[in-house]
Amino acid sequence: MKILMAASEAVPFLKTGGLGDVAGTLALELHKAGHEVILVLPKHGIINTQKFELTPKFSPFFVHLGTATFFASVLETRIEGMPTYLIEYDDFFSRNPIYDDGKKAYPDNGARFAFFSKAVLDLSLALGFAPDVVHCSDWQTALIPYYLKTWGFEGDFFRKTASLLTIHNIGYQGIFDGLGLAPFIGLNWMQLRPDEFEAFGGLNYLKGGFFYADQITTVSPTYAQEILSEPGGNGLSSYLERRKSDVMGILNGIDTQEWNPAKDPFLPAPYTAKNLAGKAKAKEALQKEFLLEVNPNKPVFGVVSRLADQKGFDLLQAIIHELMTWDLQIVLLGSGDKEMEGFFGWLPSIYPGKMGSYIGFQPRLAHLIEGGSDFFLMPSRYEPCGLNQMYSMAYGTLPIVRATGGLADTVTNLDPKTGKGTGFVFNDITPGALKDTIGWALYTWYNERPVIEKMAKQAMAQDFSWAKAVKGYEQAYAKALTRRMGW
Ligand code: ADP
Ligand code: GLC
Repeated sequence: MKILMAASEAVPFLKTGGLGDVAGTLALELHKAGHEVILVLPKHGIINTQKFELTPKFSPFFVHLGTATFFASVLETRIEGMPTYLIEYDDFFSRNPIYDDGKKAYPDNGARFAFFSKAVLDLSLALGFAPDVVHCSDWQTALIPYYLKTWGFEGDFFRKTASLLTIHNIGYQGIFDGLGLAPFIGLNWMQLRPDEFEAFGGLNYLKGGFFYADQITTVSPTYAQEILSEPGGNGLSSYLERRKSDVMGILNGIDTQEWNPAKDPFLPAPYTAKNLAGKAKAKEALQKEFLLEVNPNKPVFGVVSRLADQKGFDLLQAIIHELMTWDLQIVLLGSGDKEMEGFFGWLPSIYPGKMGSYIGFQPRLAHLIEGGSDFFLMPSRYEPCGLNQMYSMAYGTLPIVRATGGLADTVTNLDPKTGKGTGFVFNDITPGALKDTIGWALYTWYNERPVIEKMAKQAMAQDFSWAKAVKGYEQAYAKALTRRMGW
């Protein structure tokens, strides 16, 4: 199939979260599976032109959007042979961070990503690449299905091109005040209806995407169920309900090249399920790095996360002082909410040797925490898929998770009778439930260490590779094409 993968972020160029991991890795996996794939993303300022050998492809490159024409450029490179294009327009994309200024979303995000969405199709046309499917992700590219079907492309070129919209997180919808943006981005009055883009007098990009996309997917089967009703749908469940038969949940895979303890350059020594000596070394390195007591018998609970409401770290915040009276260590790497950054950044100074934290985004530390911890905390309120619990299992680190979305689909709770399980799972969104579950893990660590070792081996034996997901997307693309034919 000819597939155009459009995303606002993608590895190896840059990521702010799982969307970047998934867009880049999935594109490459589809390419390796023999599909003709091109990946398109914005040329964000922090993407290094030299490192990625970006060369000019089209300059100037005209993008027509609503009432305006933009003079942009297109840069080109290849990732393992896969053609990749970056749309350069500095007024929109030179800034960093890429979605907000650290506190508030950029006020022109609606224009920025409408521009990118339209530019993706203009590029496709300029390349003479008529895809079978354009694969879009989240609100940033949710206008593509609309542009594809309605505006300026009624000619033959995109006549057979279907669109697929993946929901990585329905908590982010691309909501913009007022309808003034509509003519600028090329929405006409027909689209300004509540079942398309209009929402409470403004625009909702994701909702419009639901209307126009041929196929809708999300990143785990359980999340696919959760978003079809409230509160999981975050206000959009009734719009998704109309498309129920077109909604599929496809569990993300993980990049088993990058997240593999047998060849992780960020760990002091490689290790496998058969020989865990390297894991002990990683733990020692982690304890040293975070100035914790270096002691193999103290269990380390790791965290790597965006600090956002979704992730549930207010539950940890509520019990942390009590946890610090227990015989354990906690290491946290995270950034996001400023109040939470302040709180978790301050803790090591009052609990030296037991609590370590680094506020920021640091892939090297993420790898060291996955490798060096014994347990990994993800008390998410909701979690569309979650990648870190899968990374943890691959590293023999047992996840402690709330049973929601992809966490419920990937982590098997310990059965104390059989010793079977790959982690510890709780249901209630309460500090007490989290505390009890950490307590259970701690009890098991101190009293039933062979169970922990057996669980780690079971966790490491799980297959989270992309093969299954690639098959799922192939089916979803085929469904999208069938629906496109009937449009
Ligand atoms: P989400 O996309 O909701 O943030 P995921 O679990 O799907 O959650 O993916 C998060 C990704 O971002 C993982 O690859 C994780 O390792 C990475 N990550 C999150 N926070 C940090 C951080 N502070 N430093 C380094 N990597 C991080
Ligand atoms: C989102 C979700 C996360 C998911 C990721 C990749 O950011 O919050 O659960 O793993 O997208 O699909």
